[in-house]
Amino acid sequence: MRAFRREGESVTLRSLEERDLPLTMQWRNDPRSLRWFVSDAPLEWTAHHAWFTRYQASESRDCMFFAETSDGQPVGQSSIYNFSCDGRRAEVGRFLSDPELRGRGLFRESLLLTLDAAFGPLGVEEVFLAVLSDNERAVRLYESVGFEVTHRGSGERAVVAMVLPRARFGQASARADCGAS
Ligand SMILES: CC(C)(COP(=O)(O)OP(=O)(O)OC[C@H]1O[C@@H](n2cnc3c(N)ncnc32)[C@H](O)[C@@H]1OP(=O)(O)O)[C@@H](O)C(=O)NCCC(=O)NCCS
Repeated sequence: MRAFRREGESVTLRSLEERDLPLTMQWRNDPRSLRWFVSDAPLEWTAHHAWFTRYQASESRDCMFFAETSDGQPVGQSSIYNFSCDGRRAEVGRFLSDPELRGRGLFRESLLLTLDAAFGPLGVEEVFLAVLSDNERAVRLYESVGFEVTHRGSGERAVVAMVLPRARFGQASARADCGAS
């Protein structure tokens, strides 16, 4: 899955490449993004690049994706990681879109393609994620593709845990018809 590419109706999802890193760091450090991450310290280039080098060298099943429109305009990034030993469960996240392109449904299609990769070639049965409880936009997006809340934390910067089993994704994606090839 380190050489992944899947085309949707408006968005192509492919493996993250080294050339994408300056942009993903810029998106992540934008004030419109930063506050929504559990770890909200700005990324620094050396650490960002070293993380990618470790990821590429590792033999884990983790996948980092980059989404762009069919004419090559960058849309966002997503990831599948923390696989269970039997490979049936995995976490999805590191979701991030270009702050200038939000609200157009492009990231939603990227998310559907990411989930399609998890439940398709990666053979995962259930994905889970964690999101800050006040990140209403993200929670709404996850619910719209079938995720359900399993746990709600409390206090400042509380986290909500959500899960999506393959069967429920089948129903949501049939409705959304993301057009993945
Ligand atoms: C969460 C995040 C990745 C979502 O990406 P996005 O670019 O906003 O997502 P989209 O544009 O695909 O879809 C979301 C909105 O577009 C709307 N939309 C969907 N299809 C649309 C279409 N065809 N035309 C116009 N709007 C559309 C949706 O209704 C939704 O609106 P809402 O936010 O009012 O519910 C993005 O907001 C982000 O990067 N946030 C900062 C980091 C973050 O929170 N990451 C998640 C941590 S868990």
